Amino acid sequence: MAKLDIIIAPDPRLKRKCGAVERVDAGTAQLMTDMLETMYAAPGIGLAAPQVGVTKRIIVADPAGENGPPAPLKMANPEIIWSSDEKKRHEEGCLSLPQEYDMVERPDKIRVRYVDENNATQEIEADGLLSVVIQHEMDHLEGVLFVDHISSLKRGIILRRLSKQKKHGKRHAMEPA
Ligand code: NI
Repeated sequence: MAKLDIIIAPDPRLKRKCGAVERVDAGTAQLMTDMLETMYAAPGIGLAAPQVGVTKRIIVADPAGENGPPAPLKMANPEIIWSSDEKKRHEEGCLSLPQEYDMVERPDKIRVRYVDENNATQEIEADGLLSVVIQHEMDHLEGVLFVDHISSLKRGIILRRLSKQKKHGKRHAMEPA
């Protein structure tokens, strides 16, 4: 197991469209395990491969968070095959946009087809928080962040704030001890 570095926005690596996983092999399964470990340590409830620098269609999630027994999900090539007409607004955050939150509207219920860690095709129906997390993580595979769903004014404010923090962090790291 290994903890991976999470890429912080703004970063061009978070804007790339990811390619399909041909086959979930031992290497892919290990990446899924490492992504889950990274997500739990952050702590977060979802993580997509591009957030750790891998441009493959892989996401992990565990909406139980710190409150319930672990319910990890590992998905390759997730596809939404049905979504409800009813939409709901939820507050979202992202491990690549630390300390930033805003309301995003998405379909309330979805049905998702994906390939699991054993290379078997699965389908699940999701609503509530799980539905939000899966849709948020799937957006990452298209290079889309939750701030791309809000007004350009708010998005600009958030990205400029993160950009300033990154510059400050770098300068601070270079200061002599
Ligand atoms: Ni995210």
